[in-house]
Amino acid sequence: MAPSSPHRQRNQGKLTSDKVPGAAHRRHVDTQAPQNSSSRSFAALVGIPMAVFALLVGLLLPLGLNPFSHWAAAATPPVPSSAQVVDQRSFNVLNQVLPPAQANATTLFIWPGVTEESLKAKPFHIYDDEFYEVIGSNPTLTLLAQSDKDPLFHEAVVWYPPTDEVFFVQNAGAADAGTGLNKSAIIQKISLAQAKAAKNETNAVGKVDVTTVASNPQVINPNGATYYKGNIIFAGEGQGDSITSALYLMNPQEPYNTSVLVNNFFGRQFSSLNDIAIHPRSKDIYFTDTLYGYLQDFRPAPGLRNQVYRLNEATGALTVVADGFTLPNGVTFSPEGNYAYVTDTGANHGLQGWKYSDPSSLYRFDVKEDGTWENRKTFAYVPSGVPDGVHCDARGNVYTGTGDGVSVFNPSGKLIGKVYLGSTSANFQFTGNSMVICAETELYYATFAATGPPIS
Ligand SMILES: *[C@@H]1O[C@H](CO)[C@@H](O)[C@H](O)[C@H]1NC(C)=O
Ligand SMILES: *[C@@H]1O[C@H](CO)[C@@H](O)[C@H](O)[C@H]1NC(C)=O
Ligand SMILES: *[C@@H]1O[C@H](CO)[C@@H](O)[C@H](O)[C@H]1NC(C)=O
Ligand SMILES: *[C@@H]1O[C@H](CO)[C@@H](O)[C@H](O)[C@H]1NC(C)=O
Repeated sequence: MAPSSPHRQRNQGKLTSDKVPGAAHRRHVDTQAPQNSSSRSFAALVGIPMAVFALLVGLLLPLGLNPFSHWAAAATPPVPSSAQVVDQRSFNVLNQVLPPAQANATTLFIWPGVTEESLKAKPFHIYDDEFYEVIGSNPTLTLLAQSDKDPLFHEAVVWYPPTDEVFFVQNAGAADAGTGLNKSAIIQKISLAQAKAAKNETNAVGKVDVTTVASNPQVINPNGATYYKGNIIFAGEGQGDSITSALYLMNPQEPYNTSVLVNNFFGRQFSSLNDIAIHPRSKDIYFTDTLYGYLQDFRPAPGLRNQVYRLNEATGALTVVADGFTLPNGVTFSPEGNYAYVTDTGANHGLQGWKYSDPSSLYRFDVKEDGTWENRKTFAYVPSGVPDGVHCDARGNVYTGTGDGVSVFNPSGKLIGKVYLGSTSANFQFTGNSMVICAETELYYATFAATGPPIS
């Protein structure tokens, strides 16, 4: 899909400054609580008065002998130079809260004390201590490529380890892409080694080659994709009335030959297939069908319900596993395959505009042993844009592309941090303990401590 870039929301009537928040002295108070309590309990444990205890510590510290350095390190590591701590209490009460016509899903939230520049200058935003484990001590973010207006870096981000290349596609429905009804979106790729070599730079535009992939026969209007048994599966959205939406299998090496896996549901056209996930145990193919081809004027009005399908390649069985969404979009599984996550980008009606009371939500399902889903749960709601692409790391944290970058939730749905871009990311992909992030007219490479689940 093609969410528009957020406007800048400068509100609340307070002075903003260039001061970058999140320096050590502004660290989240919660993060210090364990430190203090462990000091207290240690003093209590050895039964010495607090004053004597403090004196002892005071004597040891100048000698470089901090008896609590171990606990301190475990509780709150130093904030990496590319990161900042966000204290949500600093904006839970604002002097002025703007009406929806001025502050909505298309605007960036710039709260008192920060600026758009300060938020982007240190792009790893720590909302909760759990994010330290995700980013490690030296996370990096590098701009790899840029285009003027053409959204060349949209979705379908797939890492193909045998050639260490990363594939992605152009936005198939954005006006600035000139694609959709008469022209198909293109597939491109980069070499991950070139991205890695540039990881210490913030701007490496021109140092990484972006090459077009000539799929044959061409994958028409690809949107989502995933690695699958040595190939890449693309969800093609279709074009007009006669080129139906389909799942395509593409050989990730020359001659990039393709074949169609499925292009109908018992003779009826899909609306516009959007994204795909492979169940890690069964290897069944799960994919979403939604309305962006229609909402971006290159597909007819829908002939089927918006829902999530499951394809068993061996038997050909094609079934529906979930519905009840407004516009189902991204789909993924937890590392062991016990949970399925589906994003609903219902608030974004493409060329028809936004409906803010529709979902900008992530839903989680339990995946039963037989591969069916149950217990739909509202997992999270994002305030900026819509949650689009969704992927888990190896520990089960849930990452989703939103209106201001990539948001990271722990398995309970708590926001723990962001890779903040200040613009929309529709999708991204783990590439080991790093990530390639599509942001429409920009392509980024992030490195950190977390790793993606094994590629199967
Ligand atoms: C959302 O906010 C932006 C920026 O203030 C504004 O331009 C836009 O009109 C708002 N959208 C609606 C539907 O009110
Ligand atoms: C597609 O092509 C037709 C016929 O050439 C033209 O009338 C129409 O404007 C084109 N549509 C787009 C979206 O470019
Ligand atoms: C990036 O910087 C780190 C720390 O300064 C250094 O160890 C590493 O070799 C550098 N990597 C590249 C690819 O330049
Ligand atoms: C590509 O062509 C080779 C050789 O004919 C064939 O074995 C393979 O299945 C094809 N791959 C796809 C994805 O169609």
